[in-house]
Amino acid sequence: MKVYFIGAGPGDPELLTIKAKKIIEKADIVIYAGSLINKDIIKLAKKDARLYDSSSMNLDEVLGVFKEHKHSDKIIARMHSGDPSIYGAIQEQMDWCEKERIAYEVIPGVSSFQAASASLRQELVLPGVSQTVILTRISGRTKVPVKEDLARLARIRATLVIFLSIDRIEDVVKKIKKSYGLNTPVAVIEKVSLPQERKITGTVRDIVKKVKMAGINRQALIIIGDVFKKNYQKSKLYAKDFGHMFRKRANSRGHFPSAQKGTFSVRAIREHPKGKCPL
Ligand SMILES: C[S@@+](CC[C@H](N)C(=O)[O-])C[C@H]1O[C@@H](n2cnc3c(N)ncnc32)[C@H](O)[C@@H]1O
Repeated sequence: MKVYFIGAGPGDPELLTIKAKKIIEKADIVIYAGSLINKDIIKLAKKDARLYDSSSMNLDEVLGVFKEHKHSDKIIARMHSGDPSIYGAIQEQMDWCEKERIAYEVIPGVSSFQAASASLRQELVLPGVSQTVILTRISGRTKVPVKEDLARLARIRATLVIFLSIDRIEDVVKKIKKSYGLNTPVAVIEKVSLPQERKITGTVRDIVKKVKMAGINRQALIIIGDVFKKNYQKSKLYAKDFGHMFRKRANSRGHFPSAQKGTFSVRAIREHPKGKCPL
């Protein structure tokens, strides 16, 4: 038996990795959180695959399924929404597999915050504005350590992505408003990448009212930061006067020292002797 902890992405089945899709298609057992995983992803499983909705199971019950098949040649796809490294609760399952000497592998997925950035058409780090993204949540039943309290993190004024907190957006705003000020832009995105996706943009001043009016209270992210203001410096990476290992700098007249073309044929890449690929 082998257990695959799979990042099932934010919802759209086309945002699954190729690896995740292949494993789901061949799995004998699929365990997924019904509250978060799109049914169209579950439908990729074999007709005779056994399905378990983990939203009604506790940890022991999930581990019990692993244990039951420990000595078989079965493949278990244990699906988690987004990427399992963020609020996925996979560490306790992996540690148990280690102890029980059960083979397992983690397949990363597209996190909801990455899908949100794509949907909002907003890069989360911009030169001259912020070079840091903080992924966090407000304290709930799972306590956030005091050192990571939202009000403390807010003092950094980085781009702030807040998970699992939309139902407490008033508390979120109370904690961050002193540091960010009332005019900092905020975006809230619900069910990103799904047909029901909704996006609300506003500022620290009015976002609570807008979210309440829209009735958004679950499966949503809150993103706060000056990156939305579009007042940034252009990147160094593609600047004419900035050279690096793969591209020489333009001379004072703006000309490149030798013709540099960024285009190659696929054949050139496939057929180039190993280690000498033009890319
Ligand atoms: C248990 S956490 C899982 C996060 C997941 N591992 C990830 O990488 O996106 C669930 C929270 O993630 C966010 N989330 C997950 N899927 C989402 C989606 N499709 N749209 C918006 N937010 C989502 C919400 O904040 C939700 O409360």
